Amino acid sequence: MRGVILAGGTGTRLHPLTRITNKHLLPIYDRPMVTYAIEALVGAGVTELMLVTGGTHAGEFLRLLGNGHEYGIDRLSYAYQERPGGIAEALGLAERFVDGERVVVMLADNVVERSIRPAVEHFEVQREGARIVLSPIDDAAHLRHLGVPDLDDGGRVVRIVEKPADPPSHYAVTGIYFYEPSVFRIIPDLVPSGRGELEITDVNNWFVAEGKMEYDVLEGFWGDAGESIDAYYEVNDFVRGNGANKACGPREPRS
Ligand code: G1P
Repeated sequence: MRGVILAGGTGTRLHPLTRITNKHLLPIYDRPMVTYAIEALVGAGVTELMLVTGGTHAGEFLRLLGNGHEYGIDRLSYAYQERPGGIAEALGLAERFVDGERVVVMLADNVVERSIRPAVEHFEVQREGARIVLSPIDDAAHLRHLGVPDLDDGGRVVRIVEKPADPPSHYAVTGIYFYEPSVFRIIPDLVPSGRGELEITDVNNWFVAEGKMEYDVLEGFWGDAGESIDAYYEVNDFVRGNGANKACGPREPRS
């Protein structure tokens, strides 16, 4: 399975910090944000990676990551997104890199407490389609800034609603997505949303409509550090106190 890390966008929600650098280079506790997504993927055994970025600070990623070997990456490729056209457009740039394999996509502002290895292993044995990773969130106000799945009585996803005024469940769709290679046939037909972007939720709803969407529910903390300045600090505080990308299993007692 190949991995694609998405680290583009203008990061307007973190202005003015993101006027002077790319959001994904801002610190989370003691290191740049993007290194947490790399650690999550490498720790789950995904070591052929492409980083997609854009804007005026793209060169800094090369300076930080180089050939990736220091981070346990076997092969690191880079792609440049000419304009902030959305997550699905950025994924489209990775088509030749993915080269007919299955792919896991991770947004570089997402930080998880626990290893994503279980989801990677579940997708390896999934017959076809796509897989999303959900995180339980009780706060409806928070869910209104995210993608939220509507689940039927059997627990199957019937649709995903992006930034819902009235969230249909208590789960967030995290920025960790798994796809079979057919995903690259869907992207060219997408229509830009109200915010002028090709939405990953539209890609995911295509797989939902085909009856080919499965999911995992994350154990432990999940945060989108790019959602707001408060979310950025919430993720920082969490990681400082608890760490990130830790092995799954029985939780250690906290001191
Ligand atoms: C994106 C997705 C959204 C998802 C979120 C997770 O939102 O569109 O469905 O819940 O990432 O980080 P964005 O950060 O582009 O607003």
